[in-house]
Amino acid sequence: MSKLTLEQEAGRRRTFAIIAHPDAGKTTLTEHILLSGGAIRAAGAVRARGENRRTQSDWMKIEKERGISVSASVMTFEHDGKMFNLLDTPGHEDFSEDTYRTLTAADCAIMVLDAAKGIEPQTLKLFEVCRLRDIPIITFINKLDREAQDPMALLDEIASRLQLDPAPIWWPAESGNRLRGMVEMGTGKFQPYTKKPAGSAEDPGHPEALPLADAAQYFEQGEHEALMEAQELVEAGYPSFDRQSFLEGHMTPVLWGSALRHFGIDELLAAIGEWAPPPKVMNARKEAPPETRNAPAPVELTVQPGSNEVTGFVFKVQANMDPNHRDRIAMFRMASGSFKRGMKLKVQNTGKQLSVNAPIMFFASDRELADDAFAGDVIGIPNHGVLRVGDSLSESGLIRFAGLPNFAPEILQRVRVKDPLKAKHLKKALDGLAEEGVTQLFRPEIGADFIVGAVGQLQFEVMADRLGEEYGLEVIFEHSPYAEARWIDGDKADVEDFMSKYRGQMARDIDQAPVFLAKSSWETGYVMERFPKVAFTKTKERG
Ligand code: G4P
Repeated sequence: MSKLTLEQEAGRRRTFAIIAHPDAGKTTLTEHILLSGGAIRAAGAVRARGENRRTQSDWMKIEKERGISVSASVMTFEHDGKMFNLLDTPGHEDFSEDTYRTLTAADCAIMVLDAAKGIEPQTLKLFEVCRLRDIPIITFINKLDREAQDPMALLDEIASRLQLDPAPIWWPAESGNRLRGMVEMGTGKFQPYTKKPAGSAEDPGHPEALPLADAAQYFEQGEHEALMEAQELVEAGYPSFDRQSFLEGHMTPVLWGSALRHFGIDELLAAIGEWAPPPKVMNARKEAPPETRNAPAPVELTVQPGSNEVTGFVFKVQANMDPNHRDRIAMFRMASGSFKRGMKLKVQNTGKQLSVNAPIMFFASDRELADDAFAGDVIGIPNHGVLRVGDSLSESGLIRFAGLPNFAPEILQRVRVKDPLKAKHLKKALDGLAEEGVTQLFRPEIGADFIVGAVGQLQFEVMADRLGEEYGLEVIFEHSPYAEARWIDGDKADVEDFMSKYRGQMARDIDQAPVFLAKSSWETGYVMERFPKVAFTKTKERG
C-alpha cells in the first residue's frame, strides 16, 4: 500500500518516448536507459528488437517474436524514487500513425540525433508531431564515439530547423578516436570517457567525474586548455537551461553521449527524472451517459492527475501477443486517480462496463499483474474487442478525452481470401486488425469488397503475414480503383445529397462513418469544389 498521496504518486511519474530517425540509435539507447535505471542487468536484453528496422524480413521476424516486441511497447521501471514509463514508438516511417498515437500518451520526448548526421527527415516529422501536441523535448546527441559534426553546427541546426533554443547541458571534448569526455556547463564537472580496448568484449566503464581543472591527465597536448576555453565560450554564447521555457516547448536541453558505449546515459536519465514533466493536466469533456435522452450539452473540464476518479484513454490495442491465446490488450494511459486491480471502469462512448481483473504492467523483462497504478502509468487491459484505440475509460464513464486522429490512408487495396469459404473469417480478421489500428478497413456501400487502407506498403506485408499466422487466412491484395479516402461531414441534407450522387464510391469505416473513395486526387478536388458545403477531411478523430 502506497504511503504517498495521489499528487505525490502522480508527481513522481515520468512517461516519455524516444523519437529518432531509423538507425540513430533508439533501440540501443532504450536498452542503455534500462541498464542505467537498473531495469535490466546486461546489454543484449532488448537487442532482439534492434533488428526492428529497415528490412521487411527483419521486421517480420520480430513480429513473430511478439512476446518481446509487445512487452517493449511500454517499459516501466523505478529508479531514484521515480517511476519511469518508457513508451516505444515504431521506427519505420510506415508506422507514423501508430507513432503519433503513442506520442499522445507521452509527457516528454527524447529526440535522438546521430552526431554525424544531425537532423534527418524522420526526426523532423516526429518533432512536428511533438510540437503539435506541446510535448517538451530533451535532445540526446548520440554516437560521439564516432567522428561527429562540429557541436556548434549541430546546435545551430536545432535552432534553425526546429526553431528551438538549444541549451547545452554538457559539452563534448572531441569525438571518435579523440573523444576525451564531456564537461558540464555551469559546474565545470568533467566526465572522462574511456575507449573500449581493441579486442575486448567488455566495456571498461568510465572513470568518476572530477573538476575540469583537475582533469589534465585525460587530455593530450593543448586539448585541456581548448576545452576550458570552449566551456567559457559556450557558457557565454548559449542561454542557460530554463525549465519553464523547456516545458513550454521553446527550449531543449542538449545532452551528449554514446548509447553503445554507455556514455552519457546516467546523465540523460537524471535529466529526465529532474526535468521531464510529471503527468499533465488534461483537457476533457464530461458527457451525458450514452442512453440519456435530451442529454445536456457536454461540459468542458480539466482532469487533474491527482484527482480521485480513475480516468484515461486507450492509445493502442495489441492483439494476439500470445499466439496460443486469442488475446487483445488495450494500452490504457491513466490521466488521473488511483487504480486498483479488480476495479470497474466504463467506456465513455458505449457505456459498457468492464471489471479490470488482470491489468498488466510491463516491466523490462517481465509482465506483471498491476495491483495499483496512478496518473502517467500505462496498464495493459486484456479484453475481447470491447476496447478500441481512442476510447476513454473512467469510473463514472462520463469523461471523454479527445484528439486521437485517424489519418486518410495513402494506399487503398482490395483484399480477397484465397479460399472463398473463409470470407466470413476474413471480415472478422480485418475488423480485428483495423481495431488495432494496423490498417484501416472500408466496406463499400455497394458490393462485397473489402478495401484496406494503409499509409505505407510495408503495412500490407505485415498484414498479410499476420492474417496467415494468426488467423490461418491466405490473402491476396489487388489493385483497387481508388486513390484517396476522405471522411465526409456536414449538414445531414448536404451529406445525403452528396452520398446519393456518389453511392458507388461511398464506403463505411469500422465505426460506420461515411467515407468517400476517390479515384484520383483530381477527383477529390473536383467534388470538393462541386459540394462546398460538404467537408472532406483527411483525418478523423476517434473516440
Ligand atoms: P534505431 O533503433 O534507432 O534504428 O538504432 P539502433 O539502436 O538499432 O542502432 C543502429 C546502429 O547504430 C546499430 O549498429 C547500433 O549498434 C549503432 N549504434 C547505436 N548507438 C551507437 C553509438 O553510440 N555509437 C556507435 N558507434 N554505434 C551506435 P548496426 O551495426 O546497424 O547494428 P548492430 O549489428 O550493432 O546491431
